[in-house]
Parts: sequence; structure tokens; C-alpha cells
Amino acid sequence: MFPDLTADDIFRIETKRLWLRWPRAMDAAAIKNFAGLAEVAQMTAEIPHPYPAGEAERFVLQARADNSNGRGLVLAIAHKNNGTAIGIVAAHCDQRSEVEIGYALAPSHWGKGIATEAVKALIDTVFRVTAAEKIVANSRVINPASRRVLEKSGLNYIDTGLDMLPARGGLHPCDRFGLDRKTWMKQLAPRLLPSMLQQIHGGDNLPPDAEITAQ
Ligand SMILES: CC(C)(COP(=O)(O)OP(=O)(O)OC[C@H]1O[C@@H](n2cnc3c(N)ncnc32)[C@H](O)[C@@H]1OP(=O)(O)O)[C@@H](O)C(=O)NCCC(=O)NCCS
Repeated sequence: MFPDLTADDIFRIETKRLWLRWPRAMDAAAIKNFAGLAEVAQMTAEIPHPYPAGEAERFVLQARADNSNGRGLVLAIAHKNNGTAIGIVAAHCDQRSEVEIGYALAPSHWGKGIATEAVKALIDTVFRVTAAEKIVANSRVINPASRRVLEKSGLNYIDTGLDMLPARGGLHPCDRFGLDRKTWMKQLAPRLLPSMLQQIHGGDNLPPDAEITAQ
């Protein structure tokens, strides 16, 4: 589903503070440092705990394979000022034209809006470069920070139910969220306004169905 553009390891996304780039073998130590922590792993579906030897290296190889075969887009979150991997954002597609996203960040960087900055950029990229109709995510009910990241990134709460979290050994109660392409385009419109118009209209206060042309 992902195009040739993202299947080449020179692909990267720039945000205000971050580079989102393909993970590399040299990121394994940094990934192990945060993925190996219980407070990170326990909130995710896929990160095992205790973290086995060689798992970070396996993760990097798998991420690169998924990126190159177009099945996913798995990117390291790196601060622009030093390039070290401080987290991961991931998007994978299924057969139903839905893309599921996930993310994790080193605890020393929590609470600064970094996950939200990365997730928003990932969402914009997925809708821009794929034909996905919907982005979905889930969050353990015991994980209000993740829930907040999804809300701030424009996803809407759908429902709560038992979801399979393989690395947690079974089904766990999770809040489910989604964002469809049409809703994303309405959210995007104010961001495409030229700066003068943003000042006149107050940008985000525009009615959602406002007709706007990017310039
Ligand atoms: C979830 C996670 C990615 C958030 O990263 P982050 O960079 O700190 O997130 P942000 O700073 O962008 O936003 C966090 C929001 O959660 C809020 N928050 C944090 N802890 C909270 C809590 N205990 N209760 C309620 N809100 C909380 C913050 O106040 C912030 O919201 P605000 O901007 O409205 O104040 C990070 O905690 C993490 O990696 N956790 C472990 C892995 C994980 O949970 N992954 C998601 C799996 S679905």
C-alpha cells in the first residue's frame, strides 16, 4: 500500500523539532534503552518484556523490511539537534484500506508534545502518500497519555473493547480511535490557509465545511 517514495531509506519526514527517518542498525542500542523499560513495553501490543537479547536488532530489520516492501512505514523519532533515536512511530496497512498506527517514546522525553508532533506528521503522510480511507489506533484503558496523543492528533474515540495485545499475552481492554480521510481533510483545510487569512479568520475557528483553496 505504501508507495515507492517511502520504500527507499532516504525517505524522511521533517517536523518543527524532529526528523522521522528509517531506523538503522546503529539505533538498536538506543531503541533497547527505551523499549526495554516496563513502563514503555507494558502499554504496547508488540514490545516484549523482559526485552530479549537481540530484539532491538530484530525490530530494526523487520521495520526496514516492512518499509521496503510497502507493507508499512516504521520510522525512528530523532531530535533534529542530535539525531539519536528517542522513539518510534509506525503505520501498517491491512486489507480493508485501513492503516493502524502505533508509537513509543523514551520516558526522558515524555510530556513535551513530541509524540503528538510525530503522530500528526505520520498521519498527514499516510493520507498524502497512500489511498488509505481510515487511520485507526488503540490505547490500553490504563494509558491516558496515549489516549491524549490520539485525541490531540485528531482521532475520534470509537468504543472500548477487548483487543489482542500479543506481547501482553492475550486480550486487554482498549479504547479504539479512528480518523477517516474526509474528516482529516476538514482538519487540514485551516492549516493550508495563507498566513494573512489565518489572522483574519482565526484559522482553527473556521467552520469545518469552509471552502478553502491552498495557495
Ligand atoms: C504515550 C506516549 C507516546 C506519550 O508521549 P508524549 O511525548 O509524552 O506525549 P505528548 O506530550 O505529545 O502528549 C501527552 C499528553 O498526555 C497527557 N498525560 C500524560 N500523562 C497523563 C495522565 N497520567 N493522565 C492524563 N493525561 C496525561 C499530557 O498532559 C499530554 O496532554 P496535554 O498536551 O493535553 O497536556 C509515551 O508516554 C509513551 O511512549 N508511552 C509508552 C508507550 C505507549 O504508551 N505507546 C502507545 C501505545 S498505544
